[in-house]
Amino acid sequence: MIDTLSRREFLKTGLAATAAVVVGSKFARADNHLLFEKTSIRSLELSNRAIRSSTWSGVGDQKGYVTDRALEFYGELAKGEIGLILTGYQYVMTNGQGLPYMLGNYDDTQAEGLKKLTDTVHREGGKIAAQLVHCLARANPKLFFREGDELKKGLRFPS
Ligand SMILES: Cc1cc2nc3c(=O)[nH]c(=O)nc-3n(C[C@H](O)[C@H](O)[C@H](O)COP(=O)(O)O)c2cc1C
Repeated sequence: MIDTLSRREFLKTGLAATAAVVVGSKFARADNHLLFEKTSIRSLELSNRAIRSSTWSGVGDQKGYVTDRALEFYGELAKGEIGLILTGYQYVMTNGQGLPYMLGNYDDTQAEGLKKLTDTVHREGGKIAAQLVHCLARANPKLFFREGDELKKGLRFPS
């Protein structure tokens, strides 16, 4: 009888629904088995294998210092029980910023805010790693705020 049903008719039957649930839950079990297992990267122990990819989120202030918004943003990610959070780009020199409100990691005065950030994540049971970058040709001179960071006269950024 099933041989003679069209695909549409089959999908309307409870049999199709049952098949979807069984297949779905089987995959979910297989995924859970790997994803929610503890793991480690050398000495860094992670409660599961989910990693938040490094993604700009614009939560620094104009000079890249950690803001309350940054604490809230990364704290929320940690509450979601992600095994490892990679921050978005943190520029290591003031002439290396590519996007507005990136976090910076170019001066010791930023350590206090960055420590608060890691403490916030650790309090929620999470782990966090900084992505350190200089955006090189992708740095945006319009965002430079330190004297001397602008290009010398006559030099242009490649377009
Ligand atoms: C708005 C935005 C900001 C991103 N910022 C960063 C970043 O700071 N560092 C980085 O390595 N990748 C960054 N990426 C790349 C993402 O982390 C990710 O690798 C990319 O979106 C590809 O993911 P997918 O393979 O799941 O599509 C960014 C992507 C987007 C869309």
